Order: sequence, then structure tokens, then C-alpha cells
Amino acid sequence: MLVEVRGLGHYYRRGPHRIEVLDRVDMTVDRGEFVAVMGPSGSGKSTLLHILGCLIRPAAGSYQLAGMDILALPERKLAAIRASRIGFVFQKFHLLPELDILQNVLLPFLYSRIDTRRARSMAMAAIEQVGLLHRIDHRPAELSGGEMQRAAIARALAVQPELILADEPTGNLDRASSGEVLDLFRSLHAGGCTIVMVTHDPAVAAGAERILTLNDGRL
Ligand SMILES: Nc1ncnc2c1ncn2[C@@H]1O[C@H](COP(=O)(O)OP(=O)(O)O)[C@@H](O)[C@H]1O
Ligand SMILES: [Mg+2]
Repeated sequence: MLVEVRGLGHYYRRGPHRIEVLDRVDMTVDRGEFVAVMGPSGSGKSTLLHILGCLIRPAAGSYQLAGMDILALPERKLAAIRASRIGFVFQKFHLLPELDILQNVLLPFLYSRIDTRRARSMAMAAIEQVGLLHRIDHRPAELSGGEMQRAAIARALAVQPELILADEPTGNLDRASSGEVLDLFRSLHAGGCTIVMVTHDPAVAAGAERILTLNDGRL
């Protein structure tokens, strides 16, 4: 088991109000699984993904990632885990516009101990995996939406993380590009990657191995 959360609870404060977002969520993900998380807007999907990505600490519950008790670790250790063991893919790609694709994919290595030569070859391997070798010296603005998301996926893959987390990765794409990105996730999954993908597109979710649905904070 790669991911195991139990009794997860989370809320946000807005002024005097407490917005309950997650309520007693239990979830496990095996190594090599491809899981989709669905649910209406505001149901807590991004919050759940941010907790799995060690970006926020839940208000309640436990989280084991690769056997580590995540909630017992100090921020410094969590930063190292985020940098080396987790790859993030976002709806809006979050590529840096002034950098070319290779430079974008090299960014995660700024936070790793991997030396420059090895970083470059790992980045190139990730770019090859997403089929963008012919685009390495292009800037994001010169790419289509689907290509930008593939570049962002290469960046997430570059450090060879154990877990890929994708938040509405096809949310900004047309149908054809969505299909391309889904096919890419499916091929990464076939190659052994563990993926948790949030989506509200049933056609995209259907490409995963297992679909979980969040409703009013309950899974
Ligand atoms: N940083 C925050 N501060 C206050 N409220 C938040 C914050 N982030 C999310 N929320 C609220 O929590 C609820 C769940 O948000 P989110 O996890 O982003 O849902 P989803 O990704 O399913 O749309 C929503 O009502 C949202 O407005
Ligand atoms: Mg969201």
C-alpha cells in the first residue's frame, strides 16, 4: 500500500464560520494503481489532493505514505518528500512562461540533490515519455493546450516520483487534448506509475482503474 488515510477531516475558517470540507475520509491507494476522484465543485477534491501531496495538514485523521507517518513529520521533511516523491499536475499547467520546456522540466531538480548531468538526462527521459522531444527549446506559449499539459506532466515525472497527483488535468482542454492527456496517464499507469487524478469529467474518470466519489466531504 502506498497511500493510506484514515478518518481524515478538514475544515477552513472564513471569518467566524467554519467550513467543513472533509469528514471521516478513508482511502487507500496501492502501488501502481490509477484512481480517479470525482465529485461536484466544492466537494473537497482539491483539499484531499493537497493533503495527499503533503501541502496541507488535515485537521483530523492519519496519513501513511510509503510507510511514513506523514502527520508526525516536521515541515522540512515534508518539503523533501514533496520534492522527491510526489509529482503534481494542475489544471492550469503552471509552466513558467519565460522558460523553455526543458528548463521547465528541470525546475524540480532545483530542490533535489541530483547532479546537473543526471538531472538533464532524467528531464530528457521524461520529455521523451510524453512525446515532446521536438519541443524542448520552445516556450509554453508556442505549444497547444494538450502539449502544455504534457510538458507539465513531464515536469511531474522528471524526478521519478512514487505518486503522481493530478487536479483536473483536463479541465482546461478540449475533447481531443483531454483524450491525449488521458492516454498519456494510462500509458504511465501501464508502465507502473501510481496516479490519483481529480476530475469531474466522467469520460476521463472512466479511463482510471477505480473511481471514488466525494459528496459533502464523504468519500
Ligand atoms: N483556503 C481556503 N480557505 C477557505 N475556504 C476554502 C479554501 N480552500 C477551499 N475552500 C472551500 O472548501 C470547499 C472545498 O474546496 P475544494 O477542496 O477546492 O473543492 P473542489 O476541489 O472539490 O472544488 C469549498 O467550499 C471551498 O470554497
Ligand atoms: Mg478543485
